[in-house]
Amino acid sequence: MGLVVNFMNNLFTQEIAIDLGTANTLIMYDNKIVVDLPSIIAIDIRIQKVIAVGEKAKKMQGKTHENIKIYKPLKDGVIADYKIAELMIREFIKKIPGINNRLFTPSLTMVICIPSGITEVEKRAVKDSAHNLNAKEVYLIEEPMAAAIGSGISVTKAEGNMIVDIGGGTTECGVIALGGIVCKKSIKIAGDVFTNDISYYLRSKYNLYVGERTSEKIKIDIGSAIETINIPPENIRIQGRDLSTGKPKEMSISYKEIIPALDKSILRIEDAVMETLSSTPPELAADIYKTGIYMAGGGSLLRGLDQRIAKKTGLSVFLVEDPLRAVVKGTGIALKNIDKFTFLMK
Ligand SMILES: Nc1ncnc2c1ncn2[C@@H]1O[C@H](COP(=O)(O)OP(=O)(O)OP(=O)(O)O)[C@@H](O)[C@H]1O
Ligand SMILES: [Mg+2]
Repeated sequence: MGLVVNFMNNLFTQEIAIDLGTANTLIMYDNKIVVDLPSIIAIDIRIQKVIAVGEKAKKMQGKTHENIKIYKPLKDGVIADYKIAELMIREFIKKIPGINNRLFTPSLTMVICIPSGITEVEKRAVKDSAHNLNAKEVYLIEEPMAAAIGSGISVTKAEGNMIVDIGGGTTECGVIALGGIVCKKSIKIAGDVFTNDISYYLRSKYNLYVGERTSEKIKIDIGSAIETINIPPENIRIQGRDLSTGKPKEMSISYKEIIPALDKSILRIEDAVMETLSSTPPELAADIYKTGIYMAGGGSLLRGLDQRIAKKTGLSVFLVEDPLRAVVKGTGIALKNIDKFTFLMK
């Protein structure tokens, strides 16, 4: 009998875990990451049709004509445009192998990761969107918690651990113990601000106007938070438009130049980490003194950022394994432990 019920359940209900990030959306289904794509959608506004999502839509950025619009429905970690976000997630869910080629459209149980600074109204709206996407049951998990679980930290013990998740839109710091977030701080400075910092620097210093994709590439290829790195990246050549002449222009740029451009934003992140530490109760602070700080999220991959935070705090800082995927992995683990993890929000 149990088997039959289980079979029927599986037929009609599918479970997915979603990390709906400002920069990237990841989905876990059947213990596997089945979607890992930029949170971007391209729509032909003449015929109101989705023409691309994810990587394909990202490539179109900055190259569209008036009929094609590129949307990033998330801003600062939260959904800024619900209709567009639903369209995008619907397309992502369609990409999950095995979920659609079924006789019936299954209803979904979803665990969705949300930023820790999110308001009640925003939580409600995320759930409403999930229900529009055929979700029967929706659970929410806060990003620092998901990042910690996905990084292999045991969150339910009477031991404090600190996680700093630097994503695209938000940096979330959290101290976790006994299955809860004891103190947290969320700021809207993260990887995408680093990208903007680089654009701003090139425009103001060299009159060079570069696209967002170029600035992101500069950041990933040579971006650094400190001067003394083991293997310094080589200069790269970049192209854009010269704002004084209007002509396309190319120039070479070194990693050292980028450091001061990012400094102000990095200082803000350091401040957020320090603030979280200074609001940590002493017993947990004593634990963190021993365990150090774990860093996750794509923004944490900036060269030397871990060393800067280590210097500022006087603590050891560890980059978790697979920082871009820690949150979705943790959300996936939460999905498998819905009954056990009482901190999940319904
Ligand atoms: N190797 C790298 N070096 C520096 N930055 C990187 C690297 N790889 C990715 N990034 C940056 O990481 C950010 C995306 O990280 P992530 O996918 O964790 O964000 P997100 O979860 O979508 O955002 P959020 O959690 O804030 O909503 C982008 O700003 C991207 O440019
Ligand atoms: Mg994230």
